Amino acid sequence: MKTVHSLAGAAGVAITIVAAGAVLMPEVPVAAEGAASAMVQPDGTIVMTTQNYQRDWTMLGIFGHLDENGVKQFNVVYTQPETATAYRETGEFPAGAVIIKELRQGVTTGEGDDKVSSLGVLNGWFTMIKPPKTNAPQGPLWGDGWGWAKFNVDAPNATITKDYKTECIGCHSPVKNTDFIHVEGYPQVRN
Ligand code: HEC
Repeated sequence: MKTVHSLAGAAGVAITIVAAGAVLMPEVPVAAEGAASAMVQPDGTIVMTTQNYQRDWTMLGIFGHLDENGVKQFNVVYTQPETATAYRETGEFPAGAVIIKELRQGVTTGEGDDKVSSLGVLNGWFTMIKPPKTNAPQGPLWGDGWGWAKFNVDAPNATITKDYKTECIGCHSPVKNTDFIHVEGYPQVRN
């Protein structure tokens, strides 16, 4: 081993990269001390992260939902940098992975070829959390390999999701083969 760089990940977890290019995942699951564990309450409910994900995390992709005027809503998806790295390396989302989907109003200006939609007001978030392999949280927000929760922008500590089975899993089943994540929209992790 020649050179060793130690990087503090955004979730506060050290990832060691050796010069050969191999990435050694931390022995402790990311959830043990990272963003994920801070989002999970003792009773299994989920709160929004307080980390500055916009600045410090990796943006995976943006989905524009259209109406006749332009993009009416942008969904902007982020994850921790170490989760993106782990998925690229292994094809799996590691324990402690957090996926955040921001809901942003689309703002459309201009006419004709100059008509353009850009990111506007933040309205809320959908989140998915990969539980630790042991002592996984229990309750109606947990199952199919994830914790599931939606938040309005004015209440990041009070999820409006009551049961992921009726509110989430139906629409995510078509992408079951990629662990219920729409990986086809994320160029930096899809193969
Ligand atoms: C009406 C269908 C539908 C429902 C209901 C739904 N989702 Fe999704 N979700 C999607 C689609 C489609 C995407 C892909 C991105 C996009 O178009 O917004 C997505 C993307 C996501 C993402 C980004 C990760 C990914 O899959 O690529 C998260 C996080 C997410 N949803 C969480 C949730 C949670 C939590 C719930 C329940 C509270 C939920 N979703 C309910 C359709 C749905």
